[in-house]
Amino acid sequence: MAPALLTAFVGGQEGPWRVERIDKVIGPTLPKVDRLQIVSGNDRGLGRSLWVLRGVTSNMRYTERDEANELSARQEGLGRPQSSMAALIPIRKSEAWWELAQDERRAVFEEQSRHIGIGLEFLPAIARRLHHCRELGEPFDFLTWFEYAPEDAQRFEDLVGRLRSTPEWRFVDHEVDIRLSR
Ligand code: HEM
Repeated sequence: MAPALLTAFVGGQEGPWRVERIDKVIGPTLPKVDRLQIVSGNDRGLGRSLWVLRGVTSNMRYTERDEANELSARQEGLGRPQSSMAALIPIRKSEAWWELAQDERRAVFEEQSRHIGIGLEFLPAIARRLHHCRELGEPFDFLTWFEYAPEDAQRFEDLVGRLRSTPEWRFVDHEVDIRLSR
């Protein structure tokens, strides 16, 4: 596993990603900004910003061996030149979710919602990275990041729509959808 990577998503007037829109999905939205910068490792060079969201990559919680093998075989990394579109989707889950035991959360996540099963259908078109932030005292529990080519934009909408209609999303109590291009 790659070492944990602390990442800051900095909303302001600088950075390679142009913010196309910020949609409120559940709960309050984030202030509109023109640009997004992604800063890895530390806070130096954050520049002038309206908001900063921080998260850290981590070990897998719910993925079983066969699923991990399937994901590794199909997924591609971030930074592909044709991936000129991106989405940053910060998500918080409810207390009811965090009160579940690990096996109960896995059952909702995969047996009931097929999060990995659905996600696999969209690889390698969509590249992704999951950041955790619940333990950092941040406003969200997760910062999800996705990159894709313009010709896969509609597929990304289909993916997001399918996941949002699953039992897992009944536990989401705050979600903002930020779309970007470069
Ligand atoms: C490209 C297709 C996708 C694939 C292959 C995928 C795969 C995964 C996997 C394997 C995990 C579990 C990691 C673990 O074991 O801890 C996960 C977690 C997560 N994914 Fe996805 N995902 C996809 C798309 C999405 C999308 C579009 C969203 C948001 C709209 C999303 C939101 C999340 C969240 C919030 C978690 C953390 C869940 C938790 O720990 O409670 N995923 N995803």
